[in-house]
Amino acid sequence: MTVVDEVIRTEALTKDYPGGIRAVDGLDLSVRSGEIFGLLGPNGAGKTTTAGMLTTRVVPTSGSAWVAGIDVVAHPVAAKQVIGVVPQTNTLDRSLSVFENLYFHGRFFGMNARTARAEADRRLEQFRLTDRATQPVAALSGGMAQRLMVARAILHRPATIFLDEPTAGLDPQSRLALWEVLGELHAEGQTILLTTHYMEEADQLCDRLAIIDHGRLLALGSPEELKATTGADTIVTVVARPDALDRLAGVLAGVAGVQQAVRVDEQVVAQVEGADGIVPRVFTAAEAAGIAITDVSVAEPSLETVFINLTGKDLRE
Ligand SMILES: Nc1ncnc2c1ncn2[C@@H]1O[C@H](COP(=O)(O)OP(=O)(O)OP(=O)(O)O)[C@@H](O)[C@H]1O
Ligand SMILES: [Mg+2]
Repeated sequence: MTVVDEVIRTEALTKDYPGGIRAVDGLDLSVRSGEIFGLLGPNGAGKTTTAGMLTTRVVPTSGSAWVAGIDVVAHPVAAKQVIGVVPQTNTLDRSLSVFENLYFHGRFFGMNARTARAEADRRLEQFRLTDRATQPVAALSGGMAQRLMVARAILHRPATIFLDEPTAGLDPQSRLALWEVLGELHAEGQTILLTTHYMEEADQLCDRLAIIDHGRLLALGSPEELKATTGADTIVTVVARPDALDRLAGVLAGVAGVQQAVRVDEQVVAQVEGADGIVPRVFTAAEAAGIAITDVSVAEPSLETVFINLTGKDLRE
């Protein structure tokens, strides 16, 4: 693979924070041109630290990272020219209008006045913010502010953009609007790396993703590839009294069709192949063991299933 095809590369990338916390632990990643690549992991997995190292904000303890062939540690100034960043918090300039936030960003990245104006106008149009151009950024809703930050991040045509938990805290409608925007950028061929702990987001948006926990890469692939690794076609989630759950997991593991059953928090998650009649079989087995089931739900395998298989815990907070 040539450098042109590979936009982001890390080799044994590692970050230790003071106090002996290894936030990122020997991460090897390769992101191809035009991909939406996801870092999926629970709180504290090392997502922000990884993105921070790739965007020159965090200095690695060891290992290497390149963006568009530029070593981000050796050449941070050059690297910053080829990356766009959408941080987790609102970093718009509140003393500037919506248009000016884009315009001055373009100027800062070396565009002449005419180009910066044209690019700002074009992106406002694309992100459906034209009617807000002259307003102060304080007048924007959370979703609009987020779209403006994405517009700003891509204004100087970076090789890749980084979005850290782009939809955390957004209402469902704004989340969908942002997904749409990212889909448009993807169609334009923009390389995008995003972090998320929403498995639906990773599933919907990402061409490939890395599942990480405790700073380590646990699995890598397309959402379909990762879900296929479960080998199950159905996930049955069963709720009973907390003190009966461990026993219930053992009982369900013995039910025909169940590949494995594990207790995850306040429920038992059973992975099933051949789902016909599984719910009655689950009830019958539980009843025979004297365990009262209070809720059962049936779903397809998800990235959550993959994560549970890898770690024995779920992704939710
Ligand atoms: N500046 C810092 N100093 C010390 N420890 C830190 C610092 N930043 C992060 N950590 C620790 O490093 C680990 C990884 O944190 P990081 O913020 O990269 O995770 P994350 O996956 O982004 O989590 P979240 O979903 O909460 O955003 C955590 O244990 C965190 O407490
Ligand atoms: Mg984070």
